[in-house]
Amino acid sequence: MTSFLRPILWSIPKITAEERQRLPALTAELEGRLKNIAERFPQAVFASSLAVEDMVITDAICRLKLPIRIITLDTGKLNPETEALIAATNARYQTRLEVYRPIEADAQAFERQFGATAMYESVELRRQCCRIRKIEPLDRALGNAPAWLTGQRRSQSDTRSGLDFEEHDSGRNIAKFNPIFDWEEADVWAYAQEHDVPLNDLYRQGYPSIGCEPCTRPVKEGENIRAGRWWWESRDSKECGLHK
Ligand code: ADX
Ligand code: SF4
Repeated sequence: MTSFLRPILWSIPKITAEERQRLPALTAELEGRLKNIAERFPQAVFASSLAVEDMVITDAICRLKLPIRIITLDTGKLNPETEALIAATNARYQTRLEVYRPIEADAQAFERQFGATAMYESVELRRQCCRIRKIEPLDRALGNAPAWLTGQRRSQSDTRSGLDFEEHDSGRNIAKFNPIFDWEEADVWAYAQEHDVPLNDLYRQGYPSIGCEPCTRPVKEGENIRAGRWWWESRDSKECGLHK
């Protein structure tokens, strides 16, 4: 009889009729944005974490058969549910996501020196792990890319509230696009349902935001959607450095 003590976890939002009505216009706008990027920057690179936002963009890119490469960073620390979605996405869209992995020797040297739980010890060690497992592989993936795309949205966090559709990545000196920067969480879920996009099973287990396994946990109903990411750190350090 302990089940009533278990907290109610976040669950996939139910979509209202009003939200469903907004969808055709939002979808047309997203398609226009993606076509615009593909025309101006053929072979632009979309970085997909396989989050629902990224699956929405993947669905639109693949439906429109746009010349945009889709890459994903397999950090070596993903949940099996996330790993499984790579194959499911390839099967569904008859595509092959380009998978970038960390340099094995660097990942191993870090773990030998600092241990497999180093990320909990300090922000600096956590960032070092992110540098090895995410940022260096992203730098490689973006190599000669003329532009790149992300699935970030303004309403995901305070630090993203100033996002625009088109930005300049000054570190790489290339254009950076956020094609659903102005979508709300409900818009994303409405699209996912309408187009039946493949989803990470962790969404059904109380995870509204998904990163690496050691650094992500489910959240309670009503909590901030990023509360389960690097939950032991203060709010302002909670970014991995991919989007500096
Ligand atoms: S993070 O900075 O906190 O890790 P988040 O998980 O919200 O980022 O994802 C924001 C965007 O960053 C995603 O929509 C995607 O474009 C990119 N991204 C994050 N993680 C990955 C990954 N593992 N592979 C590819 N792109 C990623
Ligand atoms: Fe390492 Fe965690 Fe960063 Fe993944 S999110 S690269 S496990 S510190």
